[in-house]
Amino acid sequence: MQKKTPIIIDCDPGIDDIAALLLARQIPHFDVKAITTVAGNVPLAFTTQNALQLLSFMDWDVPLARGAEGPLSRPLETAEDVHGKGGMCGLTLPAANRRPVDLPAWDLIYQIAKREGGKLEIVAVGPLTNIAVALAKYPDLTKLINRITIMGGAFLAGNTTPAAEFNIYVDPEAAKRIFTSGIPFYLCPLDVTHCGYITEEELREIGGFGSKESEFFRDILLKGMAMSIYSGGKGVPLHDPLALLFAADPSCFTFTGCFVGVETQGPVTRGKTVTDVYSDKKLDKNGFYVQTVNRDTFIGHIKNLMSRYTDERKS
Ligand code: BDR
Ligand code: CA
Repeated sequence: MQKKTPIIIDCDPGIDDIAALLLARQIPHFDVKAITTVAGNVPLAFTTQNALQLLSFMDWDVPLARGAEGPLSRPLETAEDVHGKGGMCGLTLPAANRRPVDLPAWDLIYQIAKREGGKLEIVAVGPLTNIAVALAKYPDLTKLINRITIMGGAFLAGNTTPAAEFNIYVDPEAAKRIFTSGIPFYLCPLDVTHCGYITEEELREIGGFGSKESEFFRDILLKGMAMSIYSGGKGVPLHDPLALLFAADPSCFTFTGCFVGVETQGPVTRGKTVTDVYSDKKLDKNGFYVQTVNRDTFIGHIKNLMSRYTDERKS
């Protein structure tokens, strides 16, 4: 039997973070060791509460640690215009029946990384502050993380500004710390997540699978669609689920190793990610970026994963 991969999901729920967590519980070869929350789409109190409520709703017994209340060296900027005031576009879940662990996110990340002896992977789908803090506090952590998969960045065009994607824009200094850490990282930028969209018809099909989880998956993403996240009019982009599914199985994606950098200064360019893929000047490779997705296969995986809730309830 394939050995399970130990992972931590670092997130800021958020509509598509919620969708990613619903999928993560059903990925057979992931052993999710913890969820860590960070301020991003909405303030930390909301991202943490939303994650706790979702874990209770799914009856998923996984430790959750609270992380940073704001970026390393800037005020927090949120995305309530997209995710609603509380982060779930006005949808509600029953009250949480669990609490965060006593450790902050960076201490839990380090503790688990040490225990897993170099095998731990992180899927980061919010601003990268928690991981940056962990790296600053525990320099030996760079040797203990096998891989970080990141939803973040934009090479053609940003969503928060013309230059920058939200997660990187919010805390570019944190992103720089990860990009220069030496840890293998895979960046899933908007260029590919915009191609990993789901249509209204597909969401309605999943919502009809017969579980409360698939209904919530449909409902929250339909809300996201209504809040008009860019999708070229075809559907709603599955930013965070795409990074998660890439980490689970890269076979329906293409990716390339290259130099990845980030601009931390400037009113126009702050948070802009760059690569040397097309430039004459080549720089030292420090990471990978995910370039394409086969949307049909990707959506097929999503349907399979969400249908597992139905099977689970039947058994
Ligand atoms: C990213 O920003 C957030 O609003 C989403 O949750 C996603 O992680 C997309 O730019
Ligand atoms: Ca997110």
